[in-house]
Amino acid sequence: MNEDLQRTLVLVKPDGVQRGLIGEVIGRFEKVGLKIVAMRMVWVDGEFSKKHYAEHVEKAFYPGLEAMITMGPVVSMVLEGVDSIELVRKMVGSTEPKSAPPGTIRGDFAHVSYGYANKKGIGVKNVIHASANETDAKKEIELWFDKSEIHSYTTVHDVHILN
Ligand code: PPS
Repeated sequence: MNEDLQRTLVLVKPDGVQRGLIGEVIGRFEKVGLKIVAMRMVWVDGEFSKKHYAEHVEKAFYPGLEAMITMGPVVSMVLEGVDSIELVRKMVGSTEPKSAPPGTIRGDFAHVSYGYANKKGIGVKNVIHASANETDAKKEIELWFDKSEIHSYTTVHDVHILN
C-alpha cells in the first residue's frame, strides 16, 4: 500500500444487512473515491464478537451488543484512501444514532438513543461499525481478514489521488 494512504475496517452490521442497506452504504464509500480492498459476508459467533469488541466485554451493555452482532450475517470490508479512518468515521456519524447528524449513515438510517436501548437491554442498532483510530484499524483488519484477502489494484480515482 502507498504509505500516504490508510486502511480502515467497516462492517455493515446485521440490522443494516437485514434492512437491505448494503448497497446504499457501500455506494456512499465508493462515491467519495475510497477503494474497497477486501470484502466478505460472514455470520460471527459469540467467541468472535468477544474478540472484536474486547474492550467492551465487561460493560453492562455487552450482552445486548453481542446479541446484535450475532443475530445475522454482516458484510465486512477494508476501505483504503487518504485519511480513510477519519473520513469514514465522519461519514458514519456518532455511535449513538440519536446524536448522528442528518447526512451521515447513522443519522440517515437510524434514530435510537442509548437511553432507549439500555432501558430495553438491547444493543444499539446503528447499521455500521467503523474503526475508531489507527490502532483499532490495524487490530480489526488483522482479526477480520487474512493478508492474502487484501488486494492491491488500480481504480480510476488513483489517477487523481496518486499523481
Ligand atoms: S465506537 O464507535 O466504537 O468508537 O464507540 P464506543 O463507544 O467506543 O463503542 C461502543 C460500541 O458498543 C456499541 N453499543 C453500545 N454502546 C453504548 N451503549 C449501548 N447501549 C450500546 N449498545 C451497543 C456501540 O454501537 C459501539 O459499537 P460499534 O460497532 O462501533 O457501533
